Amino acid sequence: MRGRALITGPTAGIGNAFARELAKRGHDLVLVARDTARLEKIAAELREKHGVAVDVITADLTTDDGLAAAVNALTDTSHPVDLLVNNAGSSIAGWFGTTDIVEEDRHLDLMVRAPMHLMDAAIKAMAGRGHGEIINVASVAAFTPRGTYSAHKAWMVNLSRWAHMQYSDAGLTIMALCPGFVRTEFHQRMGADTSTIPRWMWLKADKLVKAALKDLDKGKSLSIPSVRYKVLATISQYAPKSVVMRAAKRGR
Ligand SMILES: NC(=O)c1ccc[n+]([C@@H]2O[C@H](COP(=O)([O-])OP(=O)(O)OC[C@H]3O[C@@H](n4cnc5c(N)ncnc54)[C@H](OP(=O)(O)O)[C@@H]3O)[C@@H](O)[C@H]2O)c1
Repeated sequence: MRGRALITGPTAGIGNAFARELAKRGHDLVLVARDTARLEKIAAELREKHGVAVDVITADLTTDDGLAAAVNALTDTSHPVDLLVNNAGSSIAGWFGTTDIVEEDRHLDLMVRAPMHLMDAAIKAMAGRGHGEIINVASVAAFTPRGTYSAHKAWMVNLSRWAHMQYSDAGLTIMALCPGFVRTEFHQRMGADTSTIPRWMWLKADKLVKAALKDLDKGKSLSIPSVRYKVLATISQYAPKSVVMRAAKRGR
């Protein structure tokens, strides 16, 4: 028997690939996003195909009510969640300092406040039971300073690595997943032009998820799928700061 997994943002992209792979492996699921019709469609498909139980929660994670609904699912002792995938995310077109600060606030709520609340609830519930796993979907952008998006992802990597160490004795594995470019709805939703991104830089969501789950099984605190992004992430972490900043200036 596999446990129950809660995934935020399973209606598209990386979250959708997690939902499909985890259902295939026999996990019951709780799916959290804003689009009810898409949630119901995926849930019906996964129940039918894999015979797993799938609950859906329609929630905007930037709202108090939406966040509370997801937290409630994590603290429900009658249906314990064994794996949290903190994945929902988006980006804003334009650089900090030129964007609307109200939009930046909403972005911060989705990228930092929501995963922080969900992690808090999950750690407390899982530590009480002596086991549990959390995947925080960050980005290789965490390693190169580029506006608020990369700052939010750097926060996520930093907190995940510490929490992994802090709660390993309590039976928890907490891993930051740092993808490079992945073909999803992400860039289209933010209105970004991706035509200049070379083909070799694109990852497939299903392969990314398989690699991430492999790293989670090994108990890693940081997962950077694919050799090319392992190399790029190493360069951005250890190259001279001036070189990294020059690369960062060239855009995202
Ligand atoms: N694609 C990339 O190149 C890439 C690279 C590195 C990291 N990432 C990270 O990977 C994660 C997933 O991104 P993706 O590429 O799969 O993007 P995506 O295809 O646009 O999917 C985003 C998911 O997040 C959900 N979502 C967005 N805003 C939400 C909100 N306010 N409340 C609840 N759910 C919300 C969306 O569902 P609804 O619209 O139904 O709410 C959707 O299911 C993000 O954290 C992103 O930063 C992506």
